[in-house]
Amino acid sequence: MHVNLPASTSTLLVQLERKGIAIESQCRNGYCGACRCKLVRGNISYRAEPIAYLNDGEILPCCATATSDVTVDI
Ligand code: FES
Repeated sequence: MHVNLPASTSTLLVQLERKGIAIESQCRNGYCGACRCKLVRGNISYRAEPIAYLNDGEILPCCATATSDVTVDI
């Protein structure tokens, strides 16, 4: 499912939760990888570089903020 989110200082996970969209999460801090999803469009940044392994195109919504309007595939 593709979800559009605006640029924000809130993490993508918090934005998804505010929309009532629940995705899997555990550590909420970039360690476990449970929340990983695909970034379809837009730009994000991390407050600190995440530890969890990511494949190309994957992001961690728990510790990423959108720096532009984004579309994520969850
Ligand atoms: S919830 Fe653990 S990396 Fe996002």
